[in-house]
Amino acid sequence: MSSVYSAKIVTELPGPKSRKLIENDEQFVSQSYTRVFPTVLDRAEGSYVWDVDGNCFVDFHAGIGVCSTGNVHPKVLAAIKTQAEKGIHFASADFYHEMVGRLAAKLADIVPGDGHKRTFFTNSGTESVEAAIKLAKYSTGRSRFLAYVGCFHGRTMGSLALTCSSRVQRTGFHPMMPGVTHVFYPYCYRCPINLEYPSCNLQCVDMVEDIYLKQVCPGEEVAAFFVEPIQGEGGYVVPPDDYFGRIKEICEKYGILFVSDEIQAGMGRTGKWFCIEHYGVEPDVITSAKGIASGMPLGAAIASSELMSWEPGAHSSTFGGNPVSCAAALATLDIIENELLANAQKMGDYLMSRLRDFQKDSEIIGDVRGKGLMIGMEVVKDRETKERAPELANEIIMECFRHGLMMLTCGPNSLRVLPPLSISKEAIDQGLDILFESIRTIEKEPRK
Ligand SMILES: Cc1ncc(COP(=O)(O)O)c(C=O)c1O
Repeated sequence: MSSVYSAKIVTELPGPKSRKLIENDEQFVSQSYTRVFPTVLDRAEGSYVWDVDGNCFVDFHAGIGVCSTGNVHPKVLAAIKTQAEKGIHFASADFYHEMVGRLAAKLADIVPGDGHKRTFFTNSGTESVEAAIKLAKYSTGRSRFLAYVGCFHGRTMGSLALTCSSRVQRTGFHPMMPGVTHVFYPYCYRCPINLEYPSCNLQCVDMVEDIYLKQVCPGEEVAAFFVEPIQGEGGYVVPPDDYFGRIKEICEKYGILFVSDEIQAGMGRTGKWFCIEHYGVEPDVITSAKGIASGMPLGAAIASSELMSWEPGAHSSTFGGNPVSCAAALATLDIIENELLANAQKMGDYLMSRLRDFQKDSEIIGDVRGKGLMIGMEVVKDRETKERAPELANEIIMECFRHGLMMLTCGPNSLRVLPPLSISKEAIDQGLDILFESIRTIEKEPRK
């Protein structure tokens, strides 16, 4: 896990090769993708990414949390090659193959709870959420759902009905799947009901029951409550430790399935296999994707065998459970188990303490929060008023980019630090030098 490279910018950005390729992209590729940086990626290794012009960037985004084991981990690459030589596709929907069974058994072993588990395999996060929606409807016979204001669960028509972290994701797509009610997320830095934790005694939980389940959408009609154990795209918002235990109690009272969407926060990201473990809650369903296979497309919805007892044909997928993706996932899980759970915790603690130290002297970093290697920094105009500063957050990541660090924003005004779980202290230090210098620059002279 030592770093052998350094961030290095050797051309103007975008460089000449990038400019040409971007022109082609703009002509032929759907421009609905939100491309953040004007450069074209070429290769990646460990915690570094290079563009086609030879510029090297420290990677604080891990391909939006996907490259969990680092970019192109040699053991993952070897597993992919070995499987691809034997067979690239066996259609898990219609044929048995070893990889899919082995991976399902491994997942059953690592998810919270002792009971027997089964997995439905998909190719992406949104498909895993769709599978969980269908499973919840099928197994409960109910059709309503709860989700959170600010949540992100995907962009297909079922998951999009749950998602509400930004206006552009929903605009133009009404009507979506009916029956979804959104309740407040426990966003303590900006409490939606203006209380303070812990003296609030989690009144937001009481509201879920007293207002929503008793008045807005009868609890007996709700199939599932979809939760992100840390709200990801919505701004890396971390609930209090005792919050989800109380929500789970309410779910049990009304027979509502508790679905933990671990697509961003799971697979070792927070120093535990699944983020919900930090809250001591055993979910009914777990959804996974992103970091599960180090970059090969794979997703999963995991539930108890009793719950996942739908009949053949009730749900299926041509590509889901692809053998090469499963082989990559098995290698990924092995590396996470043996090295990266501990590294995510250790490097996460180190990052957090350096970010919090930095925050003390910054006027524009209002809050630093997270678990393991999933850390958000909220950018504000003023730490007293907490007025959001989305423009400053964007300026900071662009300044970082110009100096050789790639990281993304999340929510309206937060920076997200989401490196590969394999990142070394040296690479973190390189990234932080650039990040801190960029924040200082923008703090002194915002561009507009
Ligand atoms: C929590 C969560 N759920 C679902 C998704 C959707 O995943 P995908 O983009 O693979 O469909 C994401 C993606 O960011 C996510 O963060």
